[in-house]
Amino acid sequence: MRIGLLTGGGDCPGLNAVIRAVVRKGIDGHGDALIGFRDGWRGVLEDSFMELTIESTRGILPRGGTILGSSRTNPYKRDDGVERVRATFAGQNLDGLIAIGGEDTLGVANRLNEDGLHVIGVPKTIDNDLGATDVTFGFDTALQVATEAIDRLHTTAESHNRILVVEVMGRTAGWIALHSGIAGGADVILIPEIPFDIDEVCRLIRRRHERGRYFSIVVAAEGAVPKEGTTMTLAAGEMDEFGHPRLGGIGYALEREIEQRTGFETRVTVLGHVQRGGSPTARDRILATRFGLKAAELAQMGQFGQMAALRGDDVIAVSLEEATAHLKTVTPEWYAVAQAFFG
Ligand code: F6P
Repeated sequence: MRIGLLTGGGDCPGLNAVIRAVVRKGIDGHGDALIGFRDGWRGVLEDSFMELTIESTRGILPRGGTILGSSRTNPYKRDDGVERVRATFAGQNLDGLIAIGGEDTLGVANRLNEDGLHVIGVPKTIDNDLGATDVTFGFDTALQVATEAIDRLHTTAESHNRILVVEVMGRTAGWIALHSGIAGGADVILIPEIPFDIDEVCRLIRRRHERGRYFSIVVAAEGAVPKEGTTMTLAAGEMDEFGHPRLGGIGYALEREIEQRTGFETRVTVLGHVQRGGSPTARDRILATRFGLKAAELAQMGQFGQMAALRGDDVIAVSLEEATAHLKTVTPEWYAVAQAFFG
């Protein structure tokens, strides 16, 4: 078979581990030929690609990012997008394409599959918000980075008796904030799923002071929003090709509001893309490797329109339709675990 591969959307640690696994299994196990499209769907639209061989993918297992490059290109945003994808499939003589991505990339994969093209999905994202898999690779690494940052901020917060706000990524899901906040012992955690009351945030911080703890750590997801009616100035971000606004900035608003309302010195740290960079954790390398092997196997069996997913300890196949049907967000039960330690 001749199989294409692409990585789309925001990069995350573990993408190269998937590429390596697909190539190894495809070539050694099935005698396939593999090509990698450059920069996500843009490479398919423009027929920009590189041959992938065991030699060219050696040594990439621990490397962050993606050797193929990535972009947020959406073929369905171009009038001739699907035709160009078809032309590349035909010109390259492709039997199938493995798309490694999150909600948006897999959404395109699902639509192309419905349009009759042979596509298989692999779920990635640091946000961990795909409903059809227990975990996405990339999340564990981002969580480690955020937790380590919180640990470091703890010591400086304590030395200066300051409130430190840490803004983490996650888009509309609060998983990184929740998990890093629990692991790092945050005093308040704000997530998109539960709009926050700034007065309550300040009350919790004051209560800590009354109990003799003169510093606090507030972890805020970039998508956290104040309750309706709260007077806080928030910046609006530009939209990407999938209609998602660019998030970020809530940390600065919180820094201002908390300091003004409590009178306690407050500082913000926005972790940003640090969470997406660098070498994947061992757990992410292993999950990505298992997903890659599964995707190669699905291609070999001609099971297109499927995505590799983790359920319990098993890597299984789910339909791309199911994979993109709903996002996984933080439940009140999960939030209660964090809340037990607030203030
Ligand atoms: O989806 C992954 C993610 O890192 C989100 O957490 C974040 O909102 C977004 O991507 C940032 O995208 P970009 O790299 O395009 O700024």
